[in-house]
Amino acid sequence: SLCSLLCFCLGWYTVNSAYGDTIIMPCRLDVPQNLMFGKWKYEKPDGSPVFIAFRSSTKKSVQYDDVPEYKDRLSLSENYTLSISNARISDEKRFVCMLVTEDNVFEAPTIVKVFKQPSKPEIVSKALFLETEQLKKLGDCISEDSYPDGNITWYRNGKVLHPLEGAVVIIFKKEMDPVTQLYTMTSTLEYKTTKADIQMPFTCSVTYYGPSGQKTVHSEQAVFDIYYPTEQVTIQVLPPKTAIKEGDNITLKCLGNGNPPPEEFLFYLPGQPEGIRSSNTYTLTDVRRNATGDYKCSLIDKKSTIASAAITVHYLDLSLNPSGEVTRQIGDALPVSCTISASRNATVVWMKDNIRLRSSPSFSSLHYQDAGNYVCETALQEVEGLKKRESLTLIVEGKPQIKMTKKTDPSGLSKTIICHVEGFPKPAIQWTITGSGSVINQTEESPYINGRYYSKIIISPEENVTLTCTAENQLERTVNSLNVSANENREKVNDQAKLIVGIVVGLLLAALVAGVVYWLYMKKSKTASKHVNKDLGNMEENKKLEENNHKTEA
Ligand SMILES: *[C@@H]1O[C@H](CO)[C@@H](O)[C@H](O)[C@H]1NC(C)=O
Ligand SMILES: *[C@@H]1O[C@H](CO)[C@@H](O)[C@H](O)[C@H]1NC(C)=O
Ligand SMILES: *[C@@H]1O[C@H](CO)[C@@H](O)[C@H](O)[C@H]1NC(C)=O
Ligand SMILES: *[C@@H]1O[C@H](CO)[C@@H](O)[C@H](O)[C@H]1NC(C)=O
Ligand SMILES: *[C@@H]1O[C@H](CO)[C@@H](O)[C@H](O)[C@H]1NC(C)=O
Ligand SMILES: *[C@@H]1O[C@H](CO)[C@@H](O)[C@H](O)[C@H]1NC(C)=O
Ligand SMILES: *[C@@H]1O[C@H](CO)[C@@H](O)[C@H](O)[C@H]1NC(C)=O
Ligand SMILES: *[C@@H]1O[C@H](CO)[C@@H](O)[C@H](O)[C@H]1NC(C)=O
Repeated sequence: SLCSLLCFCLGWYTVNSAYGDTIIMPCRLDVPQNLMFGKWKYEKPDGSPVFIAFRSSTKKSVQYDDVPEYKDRLSLSENYTLSISNARISDEKRFVCMLVTEDNVFEAPTIVKVFKQPSKPEIVSKALFLETEQLKKLGDCISEDSYPDGNITWYRNGKVLHPLEGAVVIIFKKEMDPVTQLYTMTSTLEYKTTKADIQMPFTCSVTYYGPSGQKTVHSEQAVFDIYYPTEQVTIQVLPPKTAIKEGDNITLKCLGNGNPPPEEFLFYLPGQPEGIRSSNTYTLTDVRRNATGDYKCSLIDKKSTIASAAITVHYLDLSLNPSGEVTRQIGDALPVSCTISASRNATVVWMKDNIRLRSSPSFSSLHYQDAGNYVCETALQEVEGLKKRESLTLIVEGKPQIKMTKKTDPSGLSKTIICHVEGFPKPAIQWTITGSGSVINQTEESPYINGRYYSKIIISPEENVTLTCTAENQLERTVNSLNVSANENREKVNDQAKLIVGIVVGLLLAALVAGVVYWLYMKKSKTASKHVNKDLGNMEENKKLEENNHKTEA
């Protein structure tokens, strides 16, 4: 440093001491043979001396002068080295060691320098936020208890900040504590921020002199919240714009790109020039197709900063005529229409009993098979969840209609009579037979499909009969009858029976002849004839039984 260089040139000796430490000053004189005593003094600014310590060479005694500043702080050793404890700033003086003989006084001066390292600088009174385009106090950088005083430097992102008219203002201030004589340095930074300062660290440092020259200590970093105005607003629509349909709740959300983001906006509904003041969301509930249009939002204080969104509220109407449960008579005409009206092209799909139809149904003359559950369905592909369907349950009613058929079995033994019935609701079929007038229970029914089914009986009449088929439903009772002649081939059957009887009789005769021959033979051998009679009796019974069997078959 400047002083040490100067002092060295002047041949002065300098002792550097840290504040609070003990200052040790050797006397720097060769002790003469005839030394009487040694003394230490310091010089006041005006040059007048103040004696502080005395040591007698002969008596080996030490004596300290009554100087309040050095009370209890001094120690003078045998070799005349003076120690001052608890170094203070006021100890920065020129001290002189004096060795006195009877005829001479030797003097050696020593300059004392005291240094105090300041505290680590700290950024205090920090701004909560900085605003673009505004010169604002960023904070104070403070470093305490320095000696000698130091300088404070500000940095932005590690680079030194130099004062700049209207943008960087640095106010430096130092204060000395009157008791300790230590300096506290404070530097206030006023700063006009820009968006480029977002996330930028600010620091400060203190530069001070130590015994070995300049030193620098840096503060911790400080990052500031930078406020900047909104330059752009955006509008968001929920649900996504492509899927808005009638009945939905639409939420408009406005966002500004400033910091902090604006909390309120003006919302403009289609065709309404006056904005509605609201927080950053605005909700429309249960929208209808007439809500289609341009929606906007702007800043409250700057209406030209605006954003808009075109919203289409999709809709899909379907009308089926007739619909619900419809009852018609067979043969009736029934025009059916399913019309749609939608915000986009939509196609209609027809289903009958869950099976897709190729074309839309329309009936010029109803059949029983036309009855069923018809569904007309449509959907908008672009809009999720927008589907409509209506249904028509068609009932085709008809009075019972009867058609009877007769078929003779190839053997000619039986006849199959079928009563075909058509009608809806399902008619009940009942058979009656003339003569006996009894109700025939032994019938076979087909399944009831498309309004028709049949009932079948197989008879083998022995006389001409009239079969009556009665079909009845809620609408009407219909009767039809059929004449069935007796079995024409009854004679043929009898002939067959006679033939069989003939054969049997023939066999019996043959057996009789054989029996007689046998009897004659046995008579000769004197055996009993009882057995033969019994066998003949059995044959008679068999014959009768066979005749009966033929009768029941016929
Ligand atoms: C003087 O004495 C002190 C202790 O009494 C010792 O530490 C120091 O080194 C001595 N100095 C010289 C120059 O002899
Ligand atoms: C402080 O700044 C002044 C003026 O720029 C300069 O003369 C002095 O040496 C500096 N002190 C330190 C400790 O750097
Ligand atoms: C719309 O919001 C109302 C309440 O504001 C709610 O009751 C209704 O369920 C919502 N509708 C839909 C489709 O989310
Ligand atoms: C839209 O139509 C509904 C009836 O469907 C009506 O209540 C409502 O006021 C209309 N809204 C507008 C903005 O015209
Ligand atoms: C709707 O249908 C019409 C006529 O069929 C056609 O010209 C038009 O492009 C269709 N629009 C869409 C969005 O499919
Ligand atoms: C017809 O048959 C059913 C069951 O086979 C029986 O319950 C019913 O009594 C019978 N009717 C007559 C008239 O024999
Ligand atoms: C059935 O025969 C009777 C006489 O036995 C006759 O009156 C009637 O018309 C005949 N019915 C049919 C359908 O041929
Ligand atoms: C039965 O009907 C046939 C014609 O179908 C007729 O020739 C015959 O005479 C009738 N027999 C009786 C007993 O009525």
